[in-house]
Amino acid sequence: MRIGNLRTDHIVNPMGYQMDVPTFTWVVEEAAGKIQTAARVRVASDKAMTQILADTGMTAEASSLGTQLAVALSPRTRYYWDVTVQSDAGEEETSEAAWFETGKMDEAWTAKWIGCDDSVERHPIFGKAFSLDKEPACARLYICGLGLYNAEINGKQVSAEKLTPYCTDYNAWVQYQTYDVSELLKEGDNALDVTLGIGWYLGRFGFASHAGDVGGYYGDRWRLLAELHVVYADGTSDVIATDDSWQVTRSNITFSNIYDGEHRDDTLPATAPEAVVLLNEREDWKEAMTQDPAAAKPLNVTERLSLPVYAQEELKPVELIDTPAGEKVFDIGQNMAGAFRLSVHEPAGTKVHVQVGEVLQNDCFYRDNLRTALAEYWYTSDGEPHVIEPMFTFYGFRYVKVDGCTNLTKDSLVALAYYSNVTPAGCFESGDAKLNKLMKNISWGQKGNFIDVPTDCPQRDERMGWTADTQVFVPTASYLTDSWAFYRKFLHDLALDQAEHGGMVPDVIPAFGNASCSSVWGDAATIIPWDLYLYHGDKTILERQYDSMKAWVDYIRELDGDTHAWRDHFHYGDWLALDNPAGGVDQVKGGTEDAYIADVYYMNSAEIVAKSAALLGKEEDAAAYGALVEKLRREISEEYFTPNGRCAITTMTGYILALYYNLTPHRDRALKSLVAMLKTKGNKFVTGFVGTPLVSRVLSAEDCDRQAYNILHDERYPGWLYEINLGATTVWERWNSMDENGMVSSTGMNSFNHYAYGAIGEWMWQTMAGISPDPEKPGFKHAILRPVPDFATKTVKASYASAAGTYRTEWETLSETSVRVKVEVPFDATATLILPYAKPEDAVRELSAGVFEITYETAEPLVIHLGIHTPLQELLDDPRAQAVLGQNFHEVFMVPGQYKNLSLAELSVMFGGGEEVEAKMRQLDELLSAL
Ligand code: BGC
Repeated sequence: MRIGNLRTDHIVNPMGYQMDVPTFTWVVEEAAGKIQTAARVRVASDKAMTQILADTGMTAEASSLGTQLAVALSPRTRYYWDVTVQSDAGEEETSEAAWFETGKMDEAWTAKWIGCDDSVERHPIFGKAFSLDKEPACARLYICGLGLYNAEINGKQVSAEKLTPYCTDYNAWVQYQTYDVSELLKEGDNALDVTLGIGWYLGRFGFASHAGDVGGYYGDRWRLLAELHVVYADGTSDVIATDDSWQVTRSNITFSNIYDGEHRDDTLPATAPEAVVLLNEREDWKEAMTQDPAAAKPLNVTERLSLPVYAQEELKPVELIDTPAGEKVFDIGQNMAGAFRLSVHEPAGTKVHVQVGEVLQNDCFYRDNLRTALAEYWYTSDGEPHVIEPMFTFYGFRYVKVDGCTNLTKDSLVALAYYSNVTPAGCFESGDAKLNKLMKNISWGQKGNFIDVPTDCPQRDERMGWTADTQVFVPTASYLTDSWAFYRKFLHDLALDQAEHGGMVPDVIPAFGNASCSSVWGDAATIIPWDLYLYHGDKTILERQYDSMKAWVDYIRELDGDTHAWRDHFHYGDWLALDNPAGGVDQVKGGTEDAYIADVYYMNSAEIVAKSAALLGKEEDAAAYGALVEKLRREISEEYFTPNGRCAITTMTGYILALYYNLTPHRDRALKSLVAMLKTKGNKFVTGFVGTPLVSRVLSAEDCDRQAYNILHDERYPGWLYEINLGATTVWERWNSMDENGMVSSTGMNSFNHYAYGAIGEWMWQTMAGISPDPEKPGFKHAILRPVPDFATKTVKASYASAAGTYRTEWETLSETSVRVKVEVPFDATATLILPYAKPEDAVRELSAGVFEITYETAEPLVIHLGIHTPLQELLDDPRAQAVLGQNFHEVFMVPGQYKNLSLAELSVMFGGGEEVEAKMRQLDELLSAL
């Protein structure tokens, strides 16, 4: 037995994070037993685990999904913990000790906020030169700098983290970070220098800002707060803290902000960020000003919740392109977010200009869809060779255009993919290269939109925490990575912003002045915590978010009143769906009535509150919100369904919601209408943000897996593979972001890295890999394994490191009627294995931990043989048949709807027949039956 993945509050060895009662989680592997019979968690003050501070004792109650243990925590202290697990095979094993370390907690800061002249554009470097008269044994830096900071000790960066102190509702809280800097200090002279950037706090950002604006929504002054705690071998200690003894000079960074990029001028008599300036060389540094407490806005500085953002991957360009317009453009080969390193050696005074874009147009550089975001970098050379790297901004890009550099080669640049430090969880590989590419694109969509905040897109002048985009993507993100801690921080911000707005959830979080809300968007407040609970089985997220969840439902209830006023409120609705009768490439509104969507999501949120209340033992609330759900369900039924079950909302999304949220007892009617509508639309989704994440799931829940697969395989517009055929390396914002000729359809609102439609990842995991959580036993202590074979895909092999351990599934179609399936259920978990298309007696098995391999005969063939006797509509519904017809007999696409129930054989007779037609039919029959 091996015990690993020990996490405190879902983070490996967290240092300086917000913490009350810590939650401990672990995963057991390589056990002989199948279940954990008991476990014991201990917390100690020493690594050897001899000074025990808290102990659960050996108990059956200790769950690997989350065991809380109250410890009287002191500030700036490291604690160790381990876990002993017993199994039903008589094993007992104790893990290695993991640790967590507290930050300053309630301890008062010795440090004072310091600042400097804000009218100077050159970014300040605050510095303190100091001498240590003994060898330091251990040191921590507690630091917050606004807008952004980059701290160095003796010329070495204290951390590889980017964009600290991250993006929050700064009115409500500002995070400080804690770094272990023991290795950077030495006996004798030392220097601590901190460069400040503009970032989200001081610069233009969000809808309240405009091109060229200076000044931020939250702040208007550079500020720094830092405390360096040094402990010597003899146990004595020193604190070096920001105060009026600090000095300030100006860096060679003359401009920065999130949207517009950064400027650096090395001709300035300035300290290059990488230079070390020691004690005796600082005469020209001016005195730093202590902030005037009366003038300065008070800030609530707390421990962090943000996971670190790192340059996680370095991508070498696949090509340096000389474009027809004479431009030098690096192609990174991947749409991503982050920055770059560029080697420059140009004569002094040379100006180098770097710009980024997501796609080429007519083989030339293009960036018009970034709207007002300049997304550039200006560098003025001092004549020396340098490797330049932006410090206080990030970009969303695939292409990098460089002007002003001679002798560029493909090796002159490397792209740096930034993203929050979430642990990869899922590996997915299928027999279909395009579907593998899609999963890869979805994963890159997540990376680029996981820079501290879950954003809509990382490139244009938005990059904001749009709540619906996040809400629909959480399950997919939960398969790809362990994102718990990442979303916890977002939900913390959400609750704080919401509290400032009387329960209303602003459309973007952090709000940056946004004060509007909509259904589906605001419902992130309930859906995200519930999904996290479902995927991780740790109830603490429901406890933490309970007030926020309830406040959102109460907000709607009050607004709704007795007149259903929520229906008339502004809603984004089925955003970007293609079924608005008004049409248009710039169209944003879908064709489904907003009021219906709003009512359904209101009911769903109330239901989540009711379920959460029941789980948390809040019985009164459970009853009250349960009654509200019943009332809303009744009202929805009365308003939108006839007594016989006809849905008054006759759009795809209308039927999808009816099925997904179980709005009608006449499910068959809704399904029939949905399937019929799909047929009339050529088996194409025309859904937007509301319908798209659910439609495939609804089809699979109704045993229409074949249809869901067909839609996914379809390469025509609109669809996921359409994008891939046009070279997409992430998921696009709109189905029609680019037209069939590869031309950008519009620039008003059009990103090529928008993960919302990547929510199809959830279906791919649940149906192709076949791994789903069971709401009755959340956190994958029990899983529903339903790997659905598909003849065209041939095989899928997946592994998912769930909160409860790693599930593996694998299937392969051996023939048209036989499938080999292999699944693995982790220790201390169980699963229900459902084998689609199997004979009823073979179809369901209950599994305990272990590896199981089954080969089974299907009750029906996996392939439907096609030919000239197949009804035309069925041929048109099948992407492979479509391709054959498109290449050989495209006239069939013009056949009027009323004839589509006839076969090609029948149609050919009807339209005259003849020898030539018969020969064509024979050829087609061969091609179709070979599919
Ligand atoms: C964003 C979306 C967002 C939407 C809300 C857009 O500008 O990029 O993804 O959800 O606005 O309407």
